Amino acid sequence: MAGDGLIDPWSSDDETDYSRIVDKFGLDMVDPSALPNPGMLHRRGIVFAHRDLDVALRCIRDESPLGVLTGLMPSGRMHLGHSMVIEQVRWFQENGADITVAVADLEALATRGTSLAKGRETAINEYVQNYAALGLDPDSTSVYFQSSRPDVQRLGFTLGRRTNLSEFESIYGFSGDTNLAHVQAPLVQVGDIVHPQLEEYGGLRPVVVPVGIDQDPHLRLTRDIVGKTHWFNINTRKSGGLTIALSVQEDNSSVFGIGQGGRVDRDTRDAIFSRIIEAISPLGFADIKANPKHGTLEVPAATVEDRSPIRMHLLALERELGGMGLMPPCSTYHRFASGMTGGKMSSSKPETTIFMDDTVEEMSRKVKRAISGGQSTVEEHRRLGGDCSKDIPFQYLQFFFEHDDSAILEVRKEYESGRMLAGEMKQLCIDKAGEWLSEISEKRDSWSDRLDEFLAPDAR
Ligand code: TRP
Repeated sequence: MAGDGLIDPWSSDDETDYSRIVDKFGLDMVDPSALPNPGMLHRRGIVFAHRDLDVALRCIRDESPLGVLTGLMPSGRMHLGHSMVIEQVRWFQENGADITVAVADLEALATRGTSLAKGRETAINEYVQNYAALGLDPDSTSVYFQSSRPDVQRLGFTLGRRTNLSEFESIYGFSGDTNLAHVQAPLVQVGDIVHPQLEEYGGLRPVVVPVGIDQDPHLRLTRDIVGKTHWFNINTRKSGGLTIALSVQEDNSSVFGIGQGGRVDRDTRDAIFSRIIEAISPLGFADIKANPKHGTLEVPAATVEDRSPIRMHLLALERELGGMGLMPPCSTYHRFASGMTGGKMSSSKPETTIFMDDTVEEMSRKVKRAISGGQSTVEEHRRLGGDCSKDIPFQYLQFFFEHDDSAILEVRKEYESGRMLAGEMKQLCIDKAGEWLSEISEKRDSWSDRLDEFLAPDAR
């Protein structure tokens, strides 16, 4: 569907040119040393890029509220690829974040024809049960269905006013023959991403969305739309510092003191400026230059670091004044693990991946057939060594099954030196994957009659 160079959440092309993507979409690279006790995926560079992760990390550091939102497509079976996001979600949860899980049952209905009843069944028995097994804590996890949360749908409509078909064309590569189901789904997803900030769902706080890079278009759309709702813009000042500027719109012009014919009411405008100054005063800037007439307020001493705290205070004020007051979502991006036969992992091609409930026999058959980075003869392998970058069993150990960093380094050294053979690598992967699968399977069983604990009241 997408033209050249676009990442399209619905296409099946494998897009692995990660550094190009980072440049093109203006992502930042993850610096594992900036994280408090980084998880395995961070340490290994598998979670490689982000937007505004520093905002989320600050919440962890300050022990202030942080939300995580993730979504699942309730179709097909859950496989290894899906577990990567949950691994990240668990990391945020262990670091104090609350977790919201969107079951994209409306999206599945609209784009794949999955009935809501079937979607519910799949979501709970296939996904939620595995999330539990992977270690999510029900006390701070709340699973909901798009179809039974009107607030999400309402947000989709409200925020839909801030975008248009041209933007969808450039973000998603949509054109005249695009099915309208595909046009609705991203707006509902914007609602998913934003709604944890509504008062009923935890209120104003940063929300981070860990995703595969294919979902970034949704995040760009959400951030763009959210930006358009802001009543106060924060810009960098040429001579240093930040400028806060009123963003006058239909729904705030009278609050901002703009009357009939565009005349500015001095008293109303001055009052708004006092509110702004009062709102950011906890941050302690000594020097603030207000220019109510122009609708700007300069804070020369503010640094980039101050941007998100200023943003939070202004959004709280925006809410008091009647605006939506939404923080743009933060996001993190993980690399994709390769499919076992070379291409992409896919639920619809069982030979490309390991499912969470594969038997050890099924798993080992697939590992034995997986693409290897070994040389074509033992003699050559001993001489040249194996190529870890092409070896699926090695990659799976690294992405999923071997949690000990020094062990993974050791395996790499052994393989690349030729001491370890391709068959031995496969066997190691089978052993580790076997342990992993049986542990998950046991945990799944122990959770099977307690899955309700994960469901939000409107999902029961
Ligand atoms: N579109 C996502 C998928 O195809 C599912 C989804 C819906 C989602 N809402 C979300 C993912 C919000 C992340 C955040 O898998």
